Amino acid sequence: MYLVCGRRGGKTFTLLERMLAKASKQPPRSDIYYIGPTNSQSKELIWDAMEARLYEMDWWYRPMVSKSRFELSDGRKIYVIGAEKISRIRGHKVWHMCLDELAYFGTSFIDVWRAARPTLTDLRGSADLATTPDGKGSQAYDVWLQSIEKPEWQTYSWRTLDNPWIDPKEIEDAKHELDEYSFRQEYEATWELYEGLAYYNMDENKNLSNCSAIDYNLPLTMNFDFNVNPTTLLLSQLVKDVVYFRKEYSEANSSTDATVRHFCEEHRDNAPKLELEIRGDAAGKARSSNTGRSDYQYVEEALRAHGFKYKYQVPSKNPPIIDRVKYVNGWLKPMKGDPRIIVDPSCKDLIRDLTSQGLDGRVPSKKNNLGHKADALGYNIYWEHIIGNRQSQRTIEI
Ligand SMILES: Nc1ncnc2c1ncn2[C@@H]1O[C@H](COP(=O)(O)OP(=O)(O)OP(=O)(O)O)[C@@H](O)[C@H]1O
Ligand SMILES: [Mg+2]
Repeated sequence: MYLVCGRRGGKTFTLLERMLAKASKQPPRSDIYYIGPTNSQSKELIWDAMEARLYEMDWWYRPMVSKSRFELSDGRKIYVIGAEKISRIRGHKVWHMCLDELAYFGTSFIDVWRAARPTLTDLRGSADLATTPDGKGSQAYDVWLQSIEKPEWQTYSWRTLDNPWIDPKEIEDAKHELDEYSFRQEYEATWELYEGLAYYNMDENKNLSNCSAIDYNLPLTMNFDFNVNPTTLLLSQLVKDVVYFRKEYSEANSSTDATVRHFCEEHRDNAPKLELEIRGDAAGKARSSNTGRSDYQYVEEALRAHGFKYKYQVPSKNPPIIDRVKYVNGWLKPMKGDPRIIVDPSCKDLIRDLTSQGLDGRVPSKKNNLGHKADALGYNIYWEHIIGNRQSQRTIEI
């Protein structure tokens, strides 16, 4: 079975109930597998819900977190693993497997399937796939094309709105963050075609406006991307629901340290009252093998030396590039409401990225050294997206 459904449509819920139905007929000493994008995500997605259901049904079970499995009677087991651990499945006799959010597997689906498929043959086991679509030309799309033509596969598709357990307001809220394409894809489960420009919603008439004046009563965000010539630092401020990109530092043959010092000198007078926020590329946290220091250490030292206060808002790892770009497009031109990204015309390199960066498959192309300013902007917008969703009481891993 292949489920292609909208976000929060009930895919994982359906997979869980199907696993339990299969488990009730599971032969002794056989396995059921739940496979999500990564080990930790899989645990997060299903472990507690699975345990709650096993308890509720009053089955005998033993949760073995360290072995990533639930043990049931007669040597039956239910494994919860990530696609990156797929080689562990080899040699097992599998009665049923679920591959959840397969569009978001970091490991190639072909490789996962190649390892998984033979384990079903002994017991003539079954497989369920589920995902939210991620565009034509993706692996999930290819698998869907194959599944609709094979009689042994059943395919189902429904929208988020079709799930009566979801508050329609949650769906309406998404229209303020996603553009029309992404909304259709994520909430109406359509396969969209992505081609042309990475930031296809950038509109010089709507997203550019003079906004260079900093409001020193509001937090000021410093957005970084590192290790490139010229350097990248964007200054932005969130006012109501709109992020204003007020200034860019793009210094040739310079360094992060020198760029931040220039910033400090320019804003020295406001240091005591200014509240800074630091955002940017999570890779900048890594310590250099030459100096033993990370890019952010230079930033923080320079700021401290000049008496600035700051909040550090860099996630432990970067969001998937596709997600970051999706929210930038959504904020440039949301399906509902006004643009939520405004750029000052002085930000020349940022504007060049947003207006001309192409695509390399599904991700922005690095050709012509483009993209560093847009990346810095994207880290900012993704952070806002996460914070916004936290406040509306939905938990999302960052
Ligand atoms: N048949 C159902 N009965 C009761 N609640 C349901 C049912 N189907 C889905 N839900 C509820 O709807 C919500 C979304 O379901 P679920 O997490 O399974 O969706 P999903 O499509 O896997 O979402 P995501 O895209 O976030 O992975 C959950 O709160 C779930 O408990
Ligand atoms: Mg799910």
